Amino acid sequence: MAGQTCVVVGSQWGDEGKGKVVDYLASDFQAVVRYQGGNNAGHTVIINGEKSVLHLIPSGIFSPNCLNVIAHGVVIEPEALVKEIEMLQSKNLSITPRNLIISPAATVITSYAKLMDLARENTADAQKIGTTGKGIGPSYEDKVARRAIKISDLINANTLKQKLEFLWKERAFLLFQLYGVKNVPRVEEEMTRLIDLGKKLQPFIQEEIEMLDAVASKGKILFEGAQGVMLDIDFGTYPFVTSSNTTLGGVYTGSYVPGLKIDRVIGITKAYTTRVGEGAFPSELNNETGDLIQKNGQEFGATTGRKRRCGWLDLAQLKYAVKVSGLTELALTKVDVLMNLGSLAVVKAYKYHGQVYDRYRLGMNVAEIEPILESLPPLEGVIEESMKKNDLPVSVANYIARIEKELNIPVQFLAYGPQRHQTLKF
Ligand code: IMP
Repeated sequence: MAGQTCVVVGSQWGDEGKGKVVDYLASDFQAVVRYQGGNNAGHTVIINGEKSVLHLIPSGIFSPNCLNVIAHGVVIEPEALVKEIEMLQSKNLSITPRNLIISPAATVITSYAKLMDLARENTADAQKIGTTGKGIGPSYEDKVARRAIKISDLINANTLKQKLEFLWKERAFLLFQLYGVKNVPRVEEEMTRLIDLGKKLQPFIQEEIEMLDAVASKGKILFEGAQGVMLDIDFGTYPFVTSSNTTLGGVYTGSYVPGLKIDRVIGITKAYTTRVGEGAFPSELNNETGDLIQKNGQEFGATTGRKRRCGWLDLAQLKYAVKVSGLTELALTKVDVLMNLGSLAVVKAYKYHGQVYDRYRLGMNVAEIEPILESLPPLEGVIEESMKKNDLPVSVANYIARIEKELNIPVQFLAYGPQRHQTLKF
């Protein structure tokens, strides 16, 4: 690997296969850092046929000698994190402060945030976002409103109590009065729960700055993004987005970056498009082909189990992702799902209010975009281990060439199955 620091971002609406790619890359890196989002993410890793879904812990945890960092930009549900640590330990992985650290400045997802998220989504007259129901939005609200509980507070009973009392006043009022939620935990109850979880997490709590400087002085750091460019709170298809910056900028605010230097930004890109939750997407296929892709690709949310909606690859959307997230290369995943499907197309441009655009533009209402499709020869043949670009079946090589021509960056990785070894590096 050429660079010292590399960022992996989802270049679509999430679920592009970031976990698989990060796991594949991790052996070459000495640290993997999560810097935004929370346990709304579900990063699936399959090693020797054994599947693990990670929600908060970086996907480098399966690589020996790799330091995994949950940096301060992440919102952490401490109970979910403890469960995830225990799940990995039950697979005989050793999880210690040598391979996992948690930033003291990361934000805690409280019971109140989770209840708020669910209450809003379940209220008939509210605007439904189709969230994962994990309390992500209200936790980032707490953070921006300067009333959030931080991970460091879990081991400091005095500050925790003060902050919880403050938080409770407003949250409980809204939950009781506005949303009619009956079972809102009292401060004492939430306090006991969080202190108990804090004791379990305490060994891992450590500031990430010096640790990352130490890694950078002799090794390589991989920043693992969650969700995707189009779900970014600023650059995404607002309001149907998540509440963090999923684009490159999120790395700089969500983690410490030694020397502020990023060498590579790999856009993880599914060979087609999927979306889960509310909000339109231009290339959606509401037909048998869409259903077939959903079935062949086993497109169910790793966190919520919801069916993902499917459509063709959208080059106009990806062109935007390359621009706003500074992608230097792509990793194309799940290409096997499109093989032998019988048809293939891509969205090459958008028609919007009578005008043609080669990429998504800020402020476009996605529901009003008319996709302009280009038909391509269907993908067929077999992809095998160690193939180079030249050895690939012609239809696959042509598909890659079409993408590269439009986006002007190379496809450096090709994943053609869920297993760790089913990834080609060009
Ligand atoms: P939230 O992040 O739970 O608030 O959900 C906001 C939107 O982002 C919803 O449409 C979710 O379906 C979507 N979302 C959040 N996390 C993921 C993910 O990891 N993959 C795909 N979509 C996600």
